[in-house]
Amino acid sequence: MDAHKQLTIGLFGFGVVGEGLYKVLQQTPSLKASIKKVCIKNPEKKRNAPAELFTTDKNELLNDPDINVIVEVINESEPAFEIVSTALKNGKDVVSASKKMIAEHLPEVLGLQKLTDRSFLCEAAACASIPVIRNLEEYYDNDLLHSIKAIVNGSTNFILTKMFEDKLDFQQALLLAQQLGFAESDPTLDVEGYDAVNKWAFLLTHAYGIVEHPDRIVFNGIQNIQAGDANVATEKHYDIKLVAQAKKLQNGKVAAFVLPQFVKHDDHLAFVKNEYNGVVIESGFADKQFFYGKGAGSFPTASAVLSDLSALRYQYKYEYKKLYHHKPQELTNDFYVRVYVSFDDWKFIPKEKFEWIEEWHAETDRKYLVGVLPFEELRNNRWWRENNTSLILSPDAVIEDVEIRKLKKKSLELAGIV
Ligand code: HSE
Repeated sequence: MDAHKQLTIGLFGFGVVGEGLYKVLQQTPSLKASIKKVCIKNPEKKRNAPAELFTTDKNELLNDPDINVIVEVINESEPAFEIVSTALKNGKDVVSASKKMIAEHLPEVLGLQKLTDRSFLCEAAACASIPVIRNLEEYYDNDLLHSIKAIVNGSTNFILTKMFEDKLDFQQALLLAQQLGFAESDPTLDVEGYDAVNKWAFLLTHAYGIVEHPDRIVFNGIQNIQAGDANVATEKHYDIKLVAQAKKLQNGKVAAFVLPQFVKHDDHLAFVKNEYNGVVIESGFADKQFFYGKGAGSFPTASAVLSDLSALRYQYKYEYKKLYHHKPQELTNDFYVRVYVSFDDWKFIPKEKFEWIEEWHAETDRKYLVGVLPFEELRNNRWWRENNTSLILSPDAVIEDVEIRKLKKKSLELAGIV
């Protein structure tokens, strides 16, 4: 495709993102990109575009030789995968925002790109308007990436902000997130952390060359967080955020998970409110860098699709450098985490699983402790998300294997045990 060639788009989906893209393209004629046809599921629904643009027959788009780009922004992941596979095999480039599909079909999506040598771009699928994927691919094209900490789900961040700063209750905050077009059609995907872990799965590929099914990454959402947790956060001068993180350990492997975390007020992520997302990258020599922008919503997401379309004009492709050109990193569960756990009754807490407990408060109805757990415990057992128990990571949660003995001795000394 040469730089001046017209992009003729077949668009799948005309929801929040699809309609956003339609409007954005009308305002950017310089891009030389036009939508030829839009495939939708429900022809009865009233649309803000000429009726002749729409069809319900996917083959009208996939088999049209004039259409050289398929933009796929539908909800359901299995049909999305079928559309993407056929489009690539039919020689079309693809732009997709289907994070669930990408996460669940990552090996196949990678295989199809190799097989067909077409572009598959998905900047809109993670952190919407923030160009995180292209930066991980192009700028951090080395093994100096020490860690990434990010807020990757706009709806949960919006709900936490509205609940703890504007004092809305959970249902009101969620309803508002739905009305504003931030939440998934099934909002439990947001609230229970599935959307965040899906995004994290393929961001790990671009960051570290890790290809892991989201089922194998430890995660939780914000559904267990209680008002009492917010009170403790306030006392300790913390915010609560849903944080996706990855950290390269001294053993060369990567610790990665998505969990609620206490964040200090001077942390970059504390600055991220409402539907905004933020990514803090720590790399050798540069130290910390912070990316910030809207992580959900019609135009912010469409802006990332637009940028991918623009990149297609010069045949841009992800090279997956960390996967194919470097030695890919491996995930590990061999480390410890400092956690805050609040609960209704001690009987729900396996105290013996903790390396040590640093703080406990048992005087109120809602009890809590702060202690150190082997990460394996979170991976292998579910007590920490059942029976109304809430687990929130401490600010610097990850403790490496090599540090644990030293710290344990110190904590026992402080407690007067040795
Ligand atoms: N439901 C998603 C979110 C939309 O709230 O982040 C953007 O991916």
